[in-house]
This record gives sequence, structure tokens and C-alpha cells, in this order.
Amino acid sequence: MADPAIGETLVAKEDLQRRVAELGREVSRDYAGRELVMVGVLKGAVLFLADLMRSIDVPCEIDFMAVSSYGSQTDSSGVVRILKDLDASIEGRHVLIVEDIIDSGLTLHYLMRNLRARNPASLEVCALLTKPERLRVDLSPRYVGFEIPNRFAIGYGLDHAQRHRNLDYVAALAD
Ligand code: IMP
Ligand code: MG
Repeated sequence: MADPAIGETLVAKEDLQRRVAELGREVSRDYAGRELVMVGVLKGAVLFLADLMRSIDVPCEIDFMAVSSYGSQTDSSGVVRILKDLDASIEGRHVLIVEDIIDSGLTLHYLMRNLRARNPASLEVCALLTKPERLRVDLSPRYVGFEIPNRFAIGYGLDHAQRHRNLDYVAALAD
């Protein structure tokens, strides 16, 4: 039986696969001759990161951060707490933050500031999804998979109350 929480498709499986492979090729081209540290933001970016790195052919390491932003279930406040920090130093490294979705941008804004203070050689962002209508800070991610409308998205790593991360496409949460 269809799950009533799963609404309309926002990004179909085939479009995800094609775009993620394309992003991987772009990253490989841009970082040619360099070594990359991909920082996945737990938990939502896990599926994206796993697929993305299969299309990257420069040497790359992965590390993870977990952050929680205080706020309601569907709205972040910009006050961010680090639940899990990186395992290794990023000083002098080329760092690419891999994020599932940029909504208000507050979480990423905080994360960029925090990581920049550790003196990486470079720091860029690769976000699978952005909601341009919701952006509240000045952020220009180097790589973006898809711009989506102002809907709460689930699937392909994205959750609502920890569920639906295992969908192989991105759907809107049914209202
Ligand atoms: P921001 O700080 O408002 O940009 O929100 C960032 C975080 O909130 C994302 O990394 C997600 O974990 C979560 N988030 C924001 N919008 C959505 C959504 O539509 N679906 C699932 N999670 C979301
Ligand atoms: Mg997230």
C-alpha cells in the first residue's frame, strides 16, 4: 500500500542519478591534480555522498560532521550545535562540504564559518537541493543539484522525523 505521507515526486530517480554523476564529473574536473576531503553532513547527505563519490576520480577522503540546529521540526533557528566533529584536521586541505539540502542556509552558514576558521586550503559546498525561496543568508554553493520549490522534501537521505531516508527519489511530504 502507498504510504500516505509520501506526496508528489520532486526529483525522479533517473534525474537524480544523471545529475549526481554530472556533479561528480564537474568536481573531478575542478579538483584535477588536487586531493579532496569530502565532508558529509550527517545524516541526510549520506546517500548523496555515497553516490557522488563513485563519480569522482580524484583522490578523495571522506569525513563526517553531525550538527543539530535548534528550532522546530521543519524550521531551523541558525543556532547550531556540533554533535559529531571531524575525525581529522582539515588545515591546508581542499574541503568540499556535501549537504543534502539548503533551506534557510543558516546551518551551512554556521558550518562554513566554523570550518573556515580551521584554515583549509579551500572550502566549497556541494548541495543536492536548494530552496531559493527560503534562503535567508548570503551563500553561494559552488555545486547545486536541483532547485526545488518551497516544500518539505523527503527521500534520498532526507527525512521527516527520521523516516523516508531510504526512498530512492525525492518526494514532497504530503500535506
Ligand atoms: P537550514 O539551516 O534552514 O538551511 O536547514 C538545514 C537542514 O535542515 C538541512 O541540512 C536538513 O537536514 C534540514 N532540512 C531543511 N529543509 C528540509 C526538507 O525539506 N526536508 C528534510 N530536511 C530538511
Ligand atoms: Mg542536513
